[in-house]
Amino acid sequence: MPPIAKRFATLPDYPLATIPQRKRELLERGVDVIDLGAGDADIAPPAAALERMQQAVVEPPMSRYGFGMGYLPYREAVSAFMQRRFGVACNPMTEVVPLVGSKEGISHLAFAYMEPGSVGIIPEPGYNAYQGGTLLADGEAYRYPLRPRTKFLVELDEIPSDVLDRARILYLNYPNNPTAAVAPMEYLERVVKTCRERDILLVYDNAYSEMAFDGYVPPSIFEIDGAREVAIEFHSLSKTYNMTGWRQGWAVGNPTLVGALGKTKTFLDTGSFMAIQAAGVAALESWADFVPKNVAVFQARRDAAVTAFREAGFACDVPKGAMYLWIALPEGVPSHDFANRLMDDEGVIVLPGASFGAGGEGFFRVSFIVSPDRMREAAVRAGRVLAGMLAVV
Ligand SMILES: Cc1ncc(COP(=O)(O)O)c(C=O)c1O
Repeated sequence: MPPIAKRFATLPDYPLATIPQRKRELLERGVDVIDLGAGDADIAPPAAALERMQQAVVEPPMSRYGFGMGYLPYREAVSAFMQRRFGVACNPMTEVVPLVGSKEGISHLAFAYMEPGSVGIIPEPGYNAYQGGTLLADGEAYRYPLRPRTKFLVELDEIPSDVLDRARILYLNYPNNPTAAVAPMEYLERVVKTCRERDILLVYDNAYSEMAFDGYVPPSIFEIDGAREVAIEFHSLSKTYNMTGWRQGWAVGNPTLVGALGKTKTFLDTGSFMAIQAAGVAALESWADFVPKNVAVFQARRDAAVTAFREAGFACDVPKGAMYLWIALPEGVPSHDFANRLMDDEGVIVLPGASFGAGGEGFFRVSFIVSPDRMREAAVRAGRVLAGMLAVV
């Protein structure tokens, strides 16, 4: 057997990798499965996007290579959205890059900025593309534990100075997956200041910018003075428009950062299907009709989930954003054991906190991807498993 590269051996298992197979086995056994695993909505994308897709798919030019340029109206629609939503101006040609889903861009950007000896600061628990990109690009991962103590914020002044000296990228994501924490403006100002002082690239993952509750409006990092110098921001159609499988996102930033990502991508992909980009334009233009109603559906699920899990004996905050509950487990209940028992004994799929890295131990994640009734049923089953485990702790 040819030897595998050392960098590959440093990759941990991907949290969601084995779940589809285990879910199939449960379904084959006739189990009533409630899947609260992936952040993958069960409701339809905007009608306007579906219609535009149906038209675009038969337009012959759409079937040609999109290349890095992609479908120009998509770049323009992204730029218009950034202006309308955040008051952020960006040139559609030089400051926007279409992505084959934001995960692709987040992980590939590291190829342009990481090298042996450089460090990626990675929130743990956190989205796995951060460490994936860093490790695959031969960088070193510095994992900062996101815990309630800092309100799940990465506090840079707690990171050793020699690590900060070598830090090339800081990955931040608010509203946060999986903790559902949000970042105050004052915090973002501090982070931008430090990144500017230390020449650290701030990768701001804003995948949940439109998933917010109770009137909270998540900002763009570019609302912070000076962020243009050091930040690149990632967005996605996935969560906002229930379009996870379509694989369409974008990044925004200054021409140097966006250009570096764009150039890297010319060696890795040739653009997404342009019919999807055309549908993306329709989705972005349907924001006012679609997003508030869609968010209301998720808010109702959130409310049901918070009440039901609390009644079932769990502790959790009421999240202001994203589509998750990050639920604490009592001491002595390991998150992998709990999630395995919940899946095997009760057919409920949740993600153990430790699958997001050691910093996530002591918690599990629930996604709002089923109806309020099913959320309540899942919580009752989870309560039974917890009670069983506590009886023997
Ligand atoms: C924090 C975060 N960033 C990015 C993504 C990736 O989204 P996309 O579907 O655009 O690749 C996800 C998906 O779960 C996510 O949770």
